[in-house]
Amino acid sequence: MPPSTRLTTSLAGIPLSNPIVLAAGTAGLIDEMSDVADLSRIGAIVTKSITKEPRPGNPYPRITFTRAGMLNAIGLANPGIDDFVADIAPRVASVPTALIGSIAGDSIEDYVACAKAMEAVEGIGLVELNVSCPNVHSGLEFGADPVALAELVSAVSSSLNDTKLFIKLSPITVGTPNTIVDLARVAIDAGGHGITLTNTVPAMGIDVHTKKPILSNTIGGLSGPAIHPIVVRLVHLVYAQLAKDANIPIMAAGGVTRWQDAAEFILAGASAIQIGAGSFADPRAALKVTKGLDKWVSRMGSTNVSELVGAVIV
Ligand SMILES: Cc1cc2nc3c(=O)[nH]c(=O)nc-3n(C[C@H](O)[C@H](O)[C@H](O)COP(=O)(O)O)c2cc1C
Repeated sequence: MPPSTRLTTSLAGIPLSNPIVLAAGTAGLIDEMSDVADLSRIGAIVTKSITKEPRPGNPYPRITFTRAGMLNAIGLANPGIDDFVADIAPRVASVPTALIGSIAGDSIEDYVACAKAMEAVEGIGLVELNVSCPNVHSGLEFGADPVALAELVSAVSSSLNDTKLFIKLSPITVGTPNTIVDLARVAIDAGGHGITLTNTVPAMGIDVHTKKPILSNTIGGLSGPAIHPIVVRLVHLVYAQLAKDANIPIMAAGGVTRWQDAAEFILAGASAIQIGAGSFADPRAALKVTKGLDKWVSRMGSTNVSELVGAVIV
């Protein structure tokens, strides 16, 4: 019997066998999950965020678990783009699924250098900009400052040829005059092909015995089931107010551990769904979610998952 095409999809023209994607920083550099899961059954893998220079990341402890997810302050530990290209990129051809290159930086020049290096890797057709990083010049996160965000996306987009560009936003815009829809619009107007929603929620845990923060960095990012409904709302807003009419794909990331969570994201307007913390709880979560989603699409009477994107009835 030929494989089911119920879950086949595409992101800005890049075909995926299914919409389930392993999120940046939660699946190793590229293929380390192959020990525990058949990667050919995953729609795509996002690399760890790569910066221009190598970064050791924050001191330990930099991960802790909460009652409904996890808190991390890894601090973008990564080998840097030169070592990524020399040591990791040669493995890309043997990864049996699509690869998305995640990049981060603290200056526009660094992002551009990383984006160009990612584009030169055969097999990486899509770059995801992690814009939850402070700009050295202003101290503000790129993703929270529409002027810096527009400059960044426009510089990266004009440095690329055919590579598609997704911009991954933070869920928190409180304290800025901008809504998530404003920021998504800025990113698309500046040359982005899609939006990833979202990165982690800034958060903190305290050890009540030592009275010290649990993470060495004091502040970390919350991910996992606790943030899922927050991100469902953001996907719904961006889809309804921007992406639907402009035909912009959204990748959703936030607390997916069950197929129902992924289905909710699809109904809210996501074309693909990333799984991060869920793989820490169960490294086979992505495979289980894919299986459940396939059955759901069939039960909904649809021949392809794309028919259900944004189909929430409000
Ligand atoms: C341990 C850990 C490391 C992460 N590293 C990155 C990273 O390098 N770049 C990035 O854009 N997001 C990173 N994230 C955020 C995830 O990609 C994802 O956006 C977020 O965790 C929400 O999804 P989830 O609830 O499914 O984990 C990381 C998350 C975790 C838990």
